[in-house]
Amino acid sequence: MNIPNHLQIKSFSEYKQWYKKSIEEPESFWDSIANKFYWRKKWHTTLAYNFDTPEIKWFLGGKLNITENCLDRHLDTIGNKTAIIWEPNSPDEETRHITYRQLYVKVSHFANVLKNNGIKKGDRVCLYMPMIPELAIAMLACARIGAVHSIVFAGFSSAAIASRIIDSECKMLITANEVYRGNKRINLKAICDEALEKTPSIESVIVYRRTVEPTQMEPSRDKFWFDELQKVDANCEAEEMDAEDLLFILYTSGSTGTPKGMVHTTGGYMVGSTFTFQNVFQLSKKDIYWCTADIGWITGHSYIIYGPLCAGATTVMFEGIPSFPDYGRLWEICNKLNVTHFYTAPTAIRALAKQPLDLVKKHDLSSLKVLGSVGEPINEEAWHWYNDYIGNGNCPIVDTWWQTETGAIMISPLAGITPTRPTFATLPLPGVQLALMDENGNEIEIKPDKAEGRLAVKFPWPSMARSVYNNHERYKSVYFSQFKGMYFTGDGAYRDAMGNYRITGRVDDVVIVSGHNLGTAPIENAINEHEAVAESAIVGFPHDIKGTALCAFISLHEGKLGNQNLIKEIKQQVSNTIGPIAKPDTVIFVNGLPKTRSGKIMRRILRKIAHNKTDALGDTSTLLNPDIIQEIIAQFKGN
Ligand code: PRX
Repeated sequence: MNIPNHLQIKSFSEYKQWYKKSIEEPESFWDSIANKFYWRKKWHTTLAYNFDTPEIKWFLGGKLNITENCLDRHLDTIGNKTAIIWEPNSPDEETRHITYRQLYVKVSHFANVLKNNGIKKGDRVCLYMPMIPELAIAMLACARIGAVHSIVFAGFSSAAIASRIIDSECKMLITANEVYRGNKRINLKAICDEALEKTPSIESVIVYRRTVEPTQMEPSRDKFWFDELQKVDANCEAEEMDAEDLLFILYTSGSTGTPKGMVHTTGGYMVGSTFTFQNVFQLSKKDIYWCTADIGWITGHSYIIYGPLCAGATTVMFEGIPSFPDYGRLWEICNKLNVTHFYTAPTAIRALAKQPLDLVKKHDLSSLKVLGSVGEPINEEAWHWYNDYIGNGNCPIVDTWWQTETGAIMISPLAGITPTRPTFATLPLPGVQLALMDENGNEIEIKPDKAEGRLAVKFPWPSMARSVYNNHERYKSVYFSQFKGMYFTGDGAYRDAMGNYRITGRVDDVVIVSGHNLGTAPIENAINEHEAVAESAIVGFPHDIKGTALCAFISLHEGKLGNQNLIKEIKQQVSNTIGPIAKPDTVIFVNGLPKTRSGKIMRRILRKIAHNKTDALGDTSTLLNPDIIQEIIAQFKGN
């Protein structure tokens, strides 16, 4: 590992010492971590912040380029080590191994393509790509020249891409002609073309040819990746960035309105993602680390690319899906690549645990040392299955709690160093000062007793998002207005007598479906656009694979009939507007929705109905239309 090992905490007592120091002297603590990276110029002030405005700055005056930390710095020591192992969708296609030196050349080369197409420091570039090495190359190339990448998960719809491009006024879109997903081929370029009708800011589109199929190109705008490479050389000096210059924007759902473009900056994000990667996963030099997330989510940004590459690790990228060609694919890859660290989501674990055990047992998983979980609470049953059958009882499970907004893991065991406890993310990482807040907005004191409340953070940490792109007011109101002087996470949490945290779920109108963070409001808006729909309400309900699934209660206009055909149309509408992941599992047509006297839909009651907890509806006397409740219950049960 190129970062000296003394960045890694090596015992539980060391964890306690580091944690204590990080709280008592946060600035000198983070100074000592940041000093281990390559900076062109050292910072003059470690931290300046104000949680009221809110303004957060780390490593002020520091100059660096994150790609010099991910790539250049490693060339002399581990240049020939594999940086990325790419496993294709089809097991018949060849695995690609890309060394640090090769990656450095590819990134520099493509960085010149960006420049040659007029991209400059500060310009926004949208990436809508499959899980192929070129996605990693394009993102690092942006970072190399100081362009801001905004990656849109390649399962999102054209409308979702368009709204994200418009919000951040991207100048370029990088995509692939097609993507393989299991035995399907999806025409990504056609989805982009639809989006591009609404995005005047895009001046050029670079298309990577993943398949040999003919691709529709608009000659004045669209260019093939390989053709563009021919026009430039492979030497590209990294742009000098200020620690607080933007590195990327990543959109996440909000409980209301449009998605929020979370703004992450360069220095703090690098320090936070790398420090947490090293300490949570505890990799050693020859380990093979695999995070199954898509790079379109924050997990892929921090723990497939930036954290592992800054730490000089070998990181696996998988193009395909867990069920193709069969449900043993992930285990087959672990076996084939001798994966030592495997990091996935509870929804995948639950889906795979339902399959015959033979699909696990026929693969040798003895290389595994550490297992990870992310994205949603992991239930007891899934935890034990993961522990017993994948980890063979020998691998610590790191249940990592964090968010797009936090940039890096906040609560998690350190593998093999701090204790694990099923369903608990356990203890905060050094530098993370948590607070549990009660209903009155007061902090619940830490004492040797259990407690439950809303989870907030009392002090800045380097990798936190600095703003919502173009909407600082929203950043302030969503995260810093709930509890004065604190960052509010939107999650509820339980703390045991030992100080271990278990995340109990969202306390706002965000629902986590299969580990994907979805706002209910945008889905309702999509449904309401259907001409038959008067209004709708989306709530989550427990689902044995997805964790939470969506139930839509829909009231129709007079004279409209709720039938199977309409359900199909409504689901399609959601799929077109947001993407297939947001389609409701259950659609219930109702004659009206429960409302307060001020006209607000009482989702709390609908949530209880969808959870089959109709004996605990609470006080319904303040409703404008209490009679509707029994009707809705009958319709739900009859469904
Ligand atoms: O509710 C928490 C849940 O996922 C939310 C963040 O979603 P997103 O920004 O998409 O990032 C997901 C990947 C970091 C959180 O507010 N969540 C994430 N990890 C866990 C979790 N809930 C319980 N346990 C976790 N380990």
